Amino acid sequence: MKKNKQPKPKDAKPDAEIKLDVEKIRKDFPILSRKINGNQLIYFDNAATSQKPMQVIKAMDDFYMQSNANVHRSVHKLGEESTEAYELAHKKTAEFIHADFSEVIFTKNATEAINLAMYSWGMQNIRKGDEIVLTQMEHHSNLVPWQYLAKTKRASLKFLELDAKKGRIMPEDIYKKITNKTKLVSVTHMSNVLGTINPVREIIDLAHDKKALVMLGEVAANDLRAIWNKWDINQSEKNAE
Ligand SMILES: Cc1ncc(COP(=O)(O)O)c(C=O)c1O
Repeated sequence: MKKNKQPKPKDAKPDAEIKLDVEKIRKDFPILSRKINGNQLIYFDNAATSQKPMQVIKAMDDFYMQSNANVHRSVHKLGEESTEAYELAHKKTAEFIHADFSEVIFTKNATEAINLAMYSWGMQNIRKGDEIVLTQMEHHSNLVPWQYLAKTKRASLKFLELDAKKGRIMPEDIYKKITNKTKLVSVTHMSNVLGTINPVREIIDLAHDKKALVMLGEVAANDLRAIWNKWDINQSEKNAE
């Protein structure tokens, strides 16, 4: 995968300019019209399971009612339609996160994606004495795989510490913990517990200066702020060292 040195997309707007018409968006989500205990449903557990808007529900229904078949395999009309839909979903996702088509891999959830990165890239590239940098605010899914890898390869884990009062990473810690020994920095973009948005641009730039790779958890932050900060593990560059 390519290193993440891409500029901000031309149409990207600063946060202050992004205006969401919340009422209009809510209408797209049928489940939000439910009342529970007499109260209109308000749902915040999106990092765990996000609710689906009508457009997604309809696309899934249409697919199962019209085209459902194996992709890249079945040589009949339904197989062709399914393959086309599958490819198109990858293409649209790539455009949304400003990645190349070949860089998009769908997994069933974040935990599976991180384990896949650990078992494939991590097992091949992390060696004794290497350092993997995480933060103290990581979800288990971005902690346990790296603990396992560090133990297996006799590498070490370092944690960017939090300022307990502000719930934020201490800026000076970034410069202390990301060093020439760092091979991977894996951090959440936005904490699901604290709501803290991490200074990922700064972390990525420093990690790249140290020739380390960066993995960002976008589970809680998959909005417009995130689109130019994509996952940038670049196996070929690392292997070339
Ligand atoms: C910040 C964060 N990362 C990762 C996960 C795990 O996500 P998944 O269930 O997709 O594996 C969650 C789930 O709540 C989360 O909040």
